Amino acid sequence: MSTLNHNLNNEPIGFFDSGVGGLSVYSKFRKILPKENTMYFGDLANLPYGNKSKEELIGYARSILNFYKEKRVKAVVIACNTSSAQAYDTVKNEYNFKIYPIIQSCAKVIASQNNQKIGVFATQATVNSGVYTKELKKYNPNLQVKEIACPNWVEIVETGSYKDDSAIYDIKKHLDEMRSFLPDRIILGCTHYPYLLPQLNTFVPKGLFIDPAEIFVEYIKEDLKKLSLLKQENLEFQEKIYVSAEPQSFIEHSKIFYKIQELPVVINLNN
Ligand code: DGL
Repeated sequence: MSTLNHNLNNEPIGFFDSGVGGLSVYSKFRKILPKENTMYFGDLANLPYGNKSKEELIGYARSILNFYKEKRVKAVVIACNTSSAQAYDTVKNEYNFKIYPIIQSCAKVIASQNNQKIGVFATQATVNSGVYTKELKKYNPNLQVKEIACPNWVEIVETGSYKDDSAIYDIKKHLDEMRSFLPDRIILGCTHYPYLLPQLNTFVPKGLFIDPAEIFVEYIKEDLKKLSLLKQENLEFQEKIYVSAEPQSFIEHSKIFYKIQELPVVINLNN
């Protein structure tokens, strides 16, 4: 990141994800740093990210980062594990604002908790990258990590089909596979998965799961403080929500985590 030479404190922070998942992070951010001006981009035209190639994911990340560059953001939060795993390393030095990836920002705290075996539920692209295992072992080489891909879970969340028999069956199937590893804790390594906590909780206690969102937001807050980038003026916060498609569906399925006040603006990023 090169140095930013004008006062950026009151500029917005941009968030993005493939859909409503990143709101599980965004909603916590709004609670912890309520004064900040924020933007959220849900890339529903390219959903799901989990079955896309590295090249495609880098392309989506660049399009959204370029959009945020035009909006003169002071930072961007990748509220998406898949993009953090597959695109962040390639794009991280291409912009003159700070970019926060969820996996790399939370690994140190999670790895230093008192666990021997950690499970990770994530998208296929995140599991393929091996970034969770790499990042966690960087801070705790003795940790045993098992990553399991749950390819249908994003669709269950985006369509709100939590209660369908096929959804319950799929959730239980991956949970059973993970439980045979006897994990101390399981990371919800996709920002859509915290929406499934009530369903997961019908089989196991909620405390088994780590939703990295809170650790992530605390990390961002401390870093913005360190960089003297926190908003200083006590003005009313401004928020803008963008999607690349399906604004109605976005509003409908985001309700569990965040109440969106107005219809999101549809932006075609042409990627
Ligand atoms: N919510 C995202 C993640 O954290 C992307 C899920 C997807 O679109 O497949 O990985």
